[in-house]
Amino acid sequence: MAVERTLSIIKPDATRRNLTGKINAVFEDAGLRIVGQKRVQLTEAQAGAFYAVHKERPFYGDLVSFMISGPVVLQVLEGENAVLKNREVMGATDPKKADAGTIRAQFAESIEANSVHGSDSAENAANEIRFFFAETEIVA
Ligand code: PPS
Repeated sequence: MAVERTLSIIKPDATRRNLTGKINAVFEDAGLRIVGQKRVQLTEAQAGAFYAVHKERPFYGDLVSFMISGPVVLQVLEGENAVLKNREVMGATDPKKADAGTIRAQFAESIEANSVHGSDSAENAANEIRFFFAETEIVA
């Protein structure tokens, strides 16, 4: 399997509780390298556009409001099979269903405040990375 990149977001519930370092340690221990990282306050327009694929879902408005409720840490993670590996270490969307030891099982507060986002396919990863990062901000 070739080296891949995926987009990760450490969400406002986790930055509020000062968990960036603990979450980054999970990624690094799993063999993922953080090759791009920036802490930002998303605008409503940015969050709305990023989650546009969920526009018709009942939680869309709440999700966008939550994602602008505080700073997030945008990250590019790199490694073998990075998309799938990141999904594994994140755990299920609903922390009640997440396997023990995963980031969401350890840190998430709810299905909304679930601490991390990770791209769900290599194609989406490429688009999501392009959405937030210039090439010059990613250093392998
Ligand atoms: S998945 O894996 O993307 O298909 O997960 P999905 O269940 O479809 O959820 C997509 C994103 O929406 C968030 N979500 C919610 N936010 C607020 N309220 C409710 N009820 C809710 N259900 C799902 C979920 O955390 C996913 O966010 P991201 O950032 O993509 O992980």
